[in-house]
Amino acid sequence: MCGIVAYIGPREAYPILIKGLKRLEYRGYDSAGVALLNGDLNIYKKKGKVSDLEEATKGKDTHSHLGMGHTRWATHGEPNDKNSHPHVSQSGDIAIIHNGIIENYGTLKEELINRGHEFKSDTDTEVLVHLIEDVQQNTGVALDEAVRLALQEVVGAYAIVIISKNDPTKMIGARKGSPMVVGIGEDGEYFIASDATPIIEYTKNVTYLNDGEIAFIKDGKLSVKTINNVEKTPYIETLEMNLEAIEKGGYEHFMLKEIHEQPRSIYDSLRGRFNPNTGSFAMRSLKEYEGKIKNLNRIIIVGCGTSWHAGLVGEYLFEDIARIPVEVEYASEFRYRNPVINEDDLVIAISQSGETADTLAAIELAKEKGATIFGLCNVVGSSIPRASHAGAYTHAGPEIGVASTKAFTAQVSILTLWAYGFAEIRGKATKEQLRNAFAEMETIPDKVKKALECEAQVIEIARTFSEVHNALYLGRGYGFPVALEGALKLKEISYIHAEGYPAAEMKHGPIALIDENMPVVVIATKGNIYEKVISNIQEVKARKGKIIAIVTEGDTKVRAMADYTIEIPETSEFLEPLVSTIPLQLLSYHVAVNRGCNVDQPRNLAKSVTVE
Ligand code: G6P
Repeated sequence: MCGIVAYIGPREAYPILIKGLKRLEYRGYDSAGVALLNGDLNIYKKKGKVSDLEEATKGKDTHSHLGMGHTRWATHGEPNDKNSHPHVSQSGDIAIIHNGIIENYGTLKEELINRGHEFKSDTDTEVLVHLIEDVQQNTGVALDEAVRLALQEVVGAYAIVIISKNDPTKMIGARKGSPMVVGIGEDGEYFIASDATPIIEYTKNVTYLNDGEIAFIKDGKLSVKTINNVEKTPYIETLEMNLEAIEKGGYEHFMLKEIHEQPRSIYDSLRGRFNPNTGSFAMRSLKEYEGKIKNLNRIIIVGCGTSWHAGLVGEYLFEDIARIPVEVEYASEFRYRNPVINEDDLVIAISQSGETADTLAAIELAKEKGATIFGLCNVVGSSIPRASHAGAYTHAGPEIGVASTKAFTAQVSILTLWAYGFAEIRGKATKEQLRNAFAEMETIPDKVKKALECEAQVIEIARTFSEVHNALYLGRGYGFPVALEGALKLKEISYIHAEGYPAAEMKHGPIALIDENMPVVVIATKGNIYEKVISNIQEVKARKGKIIAIVTEGDTKVRAMADYTIEIPETSEFLEPLVSTIPLQLLSYHVAVNRGCNVDQPRNLAKSVTVE
């Protein structure tokens, strides 16, 4: 939800900002803009992509050593040039970029209008920059103090950067509820961004601002204080990310690269966390919360989108393996429905970005009610791990394609480990069982690699189905969340309406939709309910639906019935989602490419949803 990047230092700011905005475009691509200080404050902004902005600035004066840029996912005000960021104050001297929502902007705006302010956009953001100037004029304080006082009046979420024509050696950043990282470069240069991707090329030294903190960068020095005026010592850490991880590396799209990275990302997520010889774990969450895990009554898993689907797999795993009752909730519902929750509950919050506003709010609610929170996130230093009591990072590496792929399999990998870890603590798994499970888990990266070999066949299938308007995805048991995830992938990036359903539920509704034009993707791998799924396939065939079946290597039974079969390596049922999801990711990708869709930046979506 909006990406921000800013630079102050000896280099030319504009190229850094444009490159940074391209890296942040996954956060929104409704419009883009930059403000460049060079005596004057030059502002260029444009509806559309960063490339449109680049086009619009051709031949214009972009020389500057202090500037900031913004890529927008529209909330208040339609996507157009005037609502694009940066916005300026009444005098035009102060500029702001903002990620988040100022909830009380209506009342603030009214007061400012009464005091003579005129607004040029429909955004909440413009109100804040007017307010800052208003405070400065009314109190006579310096810009730093005006920002701090103005923020005290703001209700909502923000990551902002402020620069002013009257303070050409100063850059101010502040955050509450939206992410912000400050990069400390060479020769007194500084960067501010929504995440580390625009910074990594220049420096690995960063500090993540905490909620309610303001960073003041002036004359090559950084100081941090809270909105309540308490000085803070910034904690400088070294980024572990490398540049290759955020580039396409020869693939046509990030999504395809990320799909193909899964043997590695699953391996990295599991690596060092268990010992297959001894059947023991090396996970802090298990060690430090052993007592809690032993006695907890229930697990509640919260998440959104793909992370919610990973949570569903988690439910099957925890109940199956550790025999703990589990509920999986959409974070957005959980937070508003007055859930019954107490100190004997463990909440697992799953989020690739670690920033999803609803998931974050669900955590806060559960914490208030005394529950213990485990965060399962991919982005190191993001808000959800920081708000959690414990947890694990997925180590999938940066995921840039808006549709989540490698994060899903990494999340499921960790949930599997936790399910076994919890089982051991609660006396539900022997060392022997753990050793066997670990041995099998170690084979998963290779099995995923093998599953990826189906791509040529998937390309053929995708050709046949690229023009359909609807698709049905069916699965049972562990195959059900995979069916949901497969359907979500297809609709997200190809805009084909797709529904995931428990295969047996089909006869209670979706069966009415089936005719010779309906592709039905079925997870029909060998397992407990294989025979039942076969019956469901027959029900579809009887109504002339087209079956695309994901089957276990060597399967002949389903092959005889299905229109297309895609084989995946045999694996234990509890690990199957990690493998069976691969052909579905590839299918959605190739269908979307055939339809000419923007795979990495599907319309209306954003990767990190930091608004409700
Ligand atoms: C957005 C993304 C999805 C993602 C969901 C949850 O909708 O487009 O791909 O699954 O947010 O994001 P999170 O970062 O919390 O996993």
